[in-house]
Parts: sequence; structure tokens; C-alpha cells
Amino acid sequence: MIITNYLVIGSGIAGLTFAVKIAEEFPNRKVVIVTKDSEDESNTKYAQGGVAVVLDKDQDSFKKHIKDTLIAGDGLCNEDVVKMVVEEGPKRLKELLLWGANFDTNSDGEFNLGKEGGHSEYRIIHHKDVTGYEIERALLARVHQLKNIEILPYHFAIDLITDHHIKDDNAERETCYGAYVLNQRTGYIFTVKADSTLLATGGIGRVYGHTTNPIIATGDGIAMAYRAKARIKDMEFVQFHPTALYDVEGGSSFLISEAVRGFGAYLRNKKGYRFMPDYDDRAELASRDIVSQSIDSELKKSGASHVYLDCTHLDMSKFIEHFPNIYNECLQRHIDIKTDWIPVVPASHYLCGGIKVNTKGKATIKNLFACGECTRTGLHGANRLASNSLLEALVYAHNIYKYHAKHELKSVSIEIPKWNDEGTVITEEHILIQHNLKELQALMRNYVGIVRNNRRLKQAIKRLDIIYNEVEDLYRESKVTTSLCELRNMVNVAHLIIHQSIERKENRGGYYNSDNVT
Ligand code: FAD
Ligand code: SIN
Repeated sequence: MIITNYLVIGSGIAGLTFAVKIAEEFPNRKVVIVTKDSEDESNTKYAQGGVAVVLDKDQDSFKKHIKDTLIAGDGLCNEDVVKMVVEEGPKRLKELLLWGANFDTNSDGEFNLGKEGGHSEYRIIHHKDVTGYEIERALLARVHQLKNIEILPYHFAIDLITDHHIKDDNAERETCYGAYVLNQRTGYIFTVKADSTLLATGGIGRVYGHTTNPIIATGDGIAMAYRAKARIKDMEFVQFHPTALYDVEGGSSFLISEAVRGFGAYLRNKKGYRFMPDYDDRAELASRDIVSQSIDSELKKSGASHVYLDCTHLDMSKFIEHFPNIYNECLQRHIDIKTDWIPVVPASHYLCGGIKVNTKGKATIKNLFACGECTRTGLHGANRLASNSLLEALVYAHNIYKYHAKHELKSVSIEIPKWNDEGTVITEEHILIQHNLKELQALMRNYVGIVRNNRRLKQAIKRLDIIYNEVEDLYRESKVTTSLCELRNMVNVAHLIIHQSIERKENRGGYYNSDNVT
């Protein structure tokens, strides 16, 4: 067993930022970070476009950023939250700079600001097209300097420990006491007992298979919180990024940043026609929900598998300077952006909903906090504005730290039972896990995609029930493995997305049900 003051689950921008701040404030308190892959593997690492922050006060203003966020969120944002996050942005950016993160500047030494869909001004600070990689690098470097942080890579959090583990199965899950964690290298499961637990487990992209997200994005934190009976909200608002590089195989897809459209690229259909001006006055720079739905409509009309992003008219030396990673990745796939159009298709990218938290990052269970993409803060409403996610994680990590700095930390004194896997055996049914995963991903793509309808959603429930029963049987009988736990978590997340989709009776932002159109 490990006993710690703070347990942080996840080592992306949300978990690392909180860990650094709390460890700096309380050098005598212990912070343990468990993370299921290498320490840097996360959605954060792949962020391209950048962080939306109001810096150029002559041209831009908080008011404009707030307005853009509210428009993208289509009436469902919490305005107080939007104001708080936008206004905190510049202060949080300063801290990131102090920790050593570098962002591109122009010849006057000022930040080189980019633009993305839904933004009325240039306000995206970035490090070339690998902003997330740079942020992750800087945060991990700071973590390694702090003696009171222990980081445990390849450790998988299986479940939160709440009252029902201690009292009985029917006990109210009022308080969180830490988590059961699997050492993925040894297969050993142990207890991490913590005075305060932070879920910073990121997104759910893999539930759809075809996604911009890396393999870690399996919704574990949301599923753990759901099983612990925390409130989960707005799960129907899955954001599809309009321009993932088209890949015949599907699966994890390389992202072509929205900043490329901000730089002036055009979307064309297979006939070469630039279609976005027909759908929205902002054309390629309309918000993501509108661009993805427009592409979906073009694909349905033409029967094509993808559309194209045309950069051939752009200043190529400037393009390559800003987007070296995108240029090279395409080149490796025999697409020369100088002369070739890039084949693109929408792919699942981000979840606007998640674990419901207040402005202090508190979930609806005592001693449980959540931060970053696994949360529903009220910032994004029905559709996240581009580059507001890294900003949200920075601001909320700070708020959670501030809360802890002001409130006394009560140490957990109760006995926690060990993980009980009596009667389970090592499974030889890995093929069943793979098979169910493939079925789940196909189900979510085909029945719960960009455009939904009631018939498909009801069919999805029936099919998911079959998968659910099979996976639960396997889970009860088997010694747990990472892939089995991830599958179980993805089934829980799919259940939440489908059921909360059915409950939404009007189309908003990223949620579109053709039966809701009157
Ligand atoms: P993550 O960075 O995903 O970190 C989650 C961590 O939790 C990982 O370390 C993971 O291994 C760990 N974890 C998960 N489950 C468990 C478990 N059971 N046990 C232990 N550890 C676990 N947003 C922007 O604002 N600007 C951008 O330019 C931008 N570009 C993007 C480009 C791409 C390709 C992608 C995929 C996303 C992009 N986003 C962008 C979104 C943004 O990157 C993410 O929303 C954000 O990084 C999430 O940070 P996080 O800390 O919440 O989660
Ligand atoms: C991108 O660079 O297009 C991703 C930005 C984001 O998800 O906010």
C-alpha cells in the first residue's frame, strides 16, 4: 500500500500542473502521480494548434474571447465560468513560461499568435505545430525537480475507493479514499490511500476507434467516477475534429490542425469545389461542429470517403516554418502539401462533457477532484472553441490547488481492504476483448456519430447491452488486465454517451439528431 497526501491519476497538462503547484506550496506533503503509459503519453503531448489566451489587448479583448466561446458553445456554456477561465488565461500562461515552456515569437520578440475556427481574433500561442509536446516537456522537467512528487509510469488506476469498499455494497459513496492501482509490469494490484484524489485522466477518443486521440484515451476516469456514483454530464457532446488525415485503415489518425485553416487553407470536395462558403459566412473558419457537419453532408451527397484540404495557394516557406510536423508527416505518406491536396475526414477528437465539477474542480463525491478533459466544467457548453482545452486545464489545476492551499487536509485514518480477486483466473480470452472492442467502436461510429437519430440510438442500446454483459462476465471471472479494464471503461462511457444523447431533445452545437429537426 502507498499512503499519500495527494493522489493524481494522469500525467497530462491537468495532472502535472496541479502536482507541480501543490508540491511547490507544501514541500513536506507527498504527491503521487500514477499514469498508465510512459510518463509523457497523453492527449496533451499531441496538441498542435496551441493555447487560446488574450495577449494583444490593442486588437483583442477578454470580451471578444468570451463572446467567441459562448457562440461556439451554442447557448449551453456557463457564462461565469467562461469569464473566469478567459480572464485567468494570461496569469496561467505566465506560470507556464516560468516553468520553461517556449512559444513562438516574431521578429519584435512578441508572441506569434495563430487563429483557429470560431475565433474572431489572432490569439493562439503555439510552439510550431507541436505545442502540447513542448508543454508536456516543460511540466515533466519541473516535476522531476520536485522531491516530494513520485511519478509511477505504467501504473493503471482500476477503481476509486469509496465507502462501499469499506462498509458494504449498498453504502452511499460519500467519500473517496484513493484508488486501486495495477502495476502493469508485475501484474500486482495495490491500494493507494490518499487524503485527496484528483482524476486527470483525459478523453474518450478511442471509444470511436477512428480518432485523433492516442491509445490512452479510453475514458477511464469518467467510468471510474460513474461507477463511484459521481455525477456525469453532457456526454452527448462528443466533438469531431473536421480535418483528421484520411487513412484507409481507420484507427488512430494524424491531425491536420485547425490552425492550417486559420493560415488560409480551403476545404474542397472531390470535384474540387470549395464548399464551406455555402454552409457558413465564416467558411473554413466556422466553429468545428459546423465544419464537421458540413463535411458529413458533402460526403453523404457524393458517397466519397473524404474531402480535401488545399494549401497549394499558401506561402509555403511560411507554412513549413509554422507547421513542420504536419508537412513532414504528410510527406512521409507521399502527400506533398506544396502540390497535393490533403485527404481529410472528421474524427472523434474531444469530449465536452464528463465528470461534473464546480469552479474549484470538486466532483460530487467528498475528497474527489477532477481536472482537464475528463471534466464538465461548463466552459464548453455544446461545443468547445478550439484551443480552449489546454487553457481550461491550466486554470482549473490552479483553482484546485488554491482550494487545497486554503483548506485543511484531513488524513484518512480508516482501514481499507486489499483488492480482492479471489476466484478469478488469468484469462485466455484476449481475442474476446479485441473482438468486443472492435464491435463497440463500429457501433459508436455507425450509430452514435456526427449525425444521430432515435432509431439508431435505440439500436445502439440493444447492441451495447450484449457487449456489456459479455464484458462484465469476463471482468468478474478474470484477473484484471489493462485491456480488459479499458474495454469495461469504454463500455461505461458508450452507455453514458448513448443515454444522454437520447435525453437531449434539441440540437445544439456538436449534438445533431435528425429526429429533432421540426
Ligand atoms: P491527457 O493529456 O489526455 O492526460 C491524461 C493522462 O491520464 C495520461 O497521462 C493517461 O495515460 C492517464 N490515464 C488515463 N487513464 C488512466 C488510468 N486508468 N490510470 C492511470 N493513468 C491514466 N487542445 C487545445 O487546447 N489546443 C490544441 O491545440 C489541441 N490540439 C489537440 C490535438 C490532438 C491531436 C488532440 C488529441 C487533442 C488536442 N487538444 C488541443 C485537446 C487537448 O490536447 C486535451 O484536451 C488536453 O491535453 C487534455 O489534457 P488532460 O491532462 O486532461 O488529459
Ligand atoms: C487543432 O490544432 O486543430 C486542435 C486544436 C484543439 O483541439 O483545440
